[in-house]
Amino acid sequence: MTQKEQKQKLLEELYVPYKKHKDCPLGPLCKSTAVFGEGNANAKLMFIGEAPGAKEEELGRPFVGRSGKLLDKILAAYDTNREDVYITNIVKCRPPKNRTPTKKEINACKDLLHNQIKIIKPKVMCTLGASALEGLTGKPVKITKVRGIPTKHKDVILLPAYHPAYILRNPKQLEFLMADIREAIELSKKQQLKHN
Ligand code: URA
Repeated sequence: MTQKEQKQKLLEELYVPYKKHKDCPLGPLCKSTAVFGEGNANAKLMFIGEAPGAKEEELGRPFVGRSGKLLDKILAAYDTNREDVYITNIVKCRPPKNRTPTKKEINACKDLLHNQIKIIKPKVMCTLGASALEGLTGKPVKITKVRGIPTKHKDVILLPAYHPAYILRNPKQLEFLMADIREAIELSKKQQLKHN
């Protein structure tokens, strides 16, 4: 079994208890399965969004609605596709009316996210939007101040970026999201070389 296959198996095992919405306050509201994440289980770059929306809930896949299409286009502009990276969210079920997840909901998914990171072992994590960054670090942030500035989170490079949904509402900011995703891709490639 390759390392990627081993990691994929570990991820699938990790998800099993959560399929029954273990301890999740959003569980009873969840119309379908939780949206755990998808992509390369051995990815060097992991994208972390906020929570699934309606399309994601329907299909059980992260970032497949309008925001996801924009993310795909930006990745493609840098010769990268979804199979090269791993894409997940801070919370795995859709909050009603797409509201921002509460602390309680974030806490219910926290161990799951940390175990995903432990298994995948990305070199770089790119959070999409303020809520994803706050959910990961547990600290309030001003995304306009911190986007594009790499820091470390538990030994992994953390690069905060705007959320694609924000860019769809504010297209003039597209260049910033593109620059940050490009930087995240480049950093992950450099880190990979260092460790080969
Ligand atoms: N927005 C997110 O934060 N995550 C998704 O999966 C889709 C839209």
